[in-house]
Amino acid sequence: MKSIQKPIVSFLSRALEKRAKKFSKDHELTLLSPRDIRKSHKDKLVIWLLQEGIFLQDLSLKNSKPFSLNFQYPKEENNNKNLLQRCFSKFNLDYQVYDFTAGFCLDAFLISKLGFKINAFEKESWLFEFTREKLLKNKIDNIKLKNRNSLEVIPEVDSKSIIYLDPMFGIENKSFAKKEMHFLRKSLLDQPDELIESSLESKAELIVIKRHKIEKKKTSKAPSYELKGKVVTFQIFDRRKN
Ligand SMILES: C[S@@+](CC[C@H](N)C(=O)[O-])C[C@H]1O[C@@H](n2cnc3c(N)ncnc32)[C@H](O)[C@@H]1O
Repeated sequence: MKSIQKPIVSFLSRALEKRAKKFSKDHELTLLSPRDIRKSHKDKLVIWLLQEGIFLQDLSLKNSKPFSLNFQYPKEENNNKNLLQRCFSKFNLDYQVYDFTAGFCLDAFLISKLGFKINAFEKESWLFEFTREKLLKNKIDNIKLKNRNSLEVIPEVDSKSIIYLDPMFGIENKSFAKKEMHFLRKSLLDQPDELIESSLESKAELIVIKRHKIEKKKTSKAPSYELKGKVVTFQIFDRRKN
């Protein structure tokens, strides 16, 4: 089984210590001073409370820097991002989109740029708070992010809905992910099978699952079609009547 590293909370100035203390308490994470981190936790995942907001850093990576999120419209040559937009551009904007694996909402952002309104759900409370802050800062208001387990939401989904799932894939390999996803893959335990199967049992007429090319997992039902990119494949389950 994959081993998980809980991030440590810290702060760079005394003025932010109180905020960092509250953050660590709210999310049941360990709080350490920057000095303690330098002394004996040089390889850890850190959530920094800085003047500019919440930042993340994986100290085990050489030359790492604290990072925030960059919500960017994709450039033409970025295949993965365009593939996601190509996938959703085939669907009617009247459909409600449920992103049941919200994470940093980077995918939800791309989908929202097509004109969809998104209901996004993230189960991990620290991650929810981090992403919510970034959505607010960037004035992104067509993504409604909630801190809930998506399994509880599935019964509320009606037929005119699209469920989007981006499960964390289970294979450990540094070269496969950007620093943002690395941080999530190291810090979160994901058991996506139940979420995938329950989504397939839901009333939603459309379900889109993002798969990494090396992930060979099969679902109980076969997708209606797939969109294949260099690194990821989107599996589409289209249950619309006509
Ligand atoms: C690979 S990340 C998704 C990244 C996201 N697509 C993005 O663009 O940032 C998977 C996320 O799904 C969340 N997740 C997994 N199961 C969940 C559930 N049952 N309810 C809510 N969130 C869940 C994990 O905590 C993790 O943050």
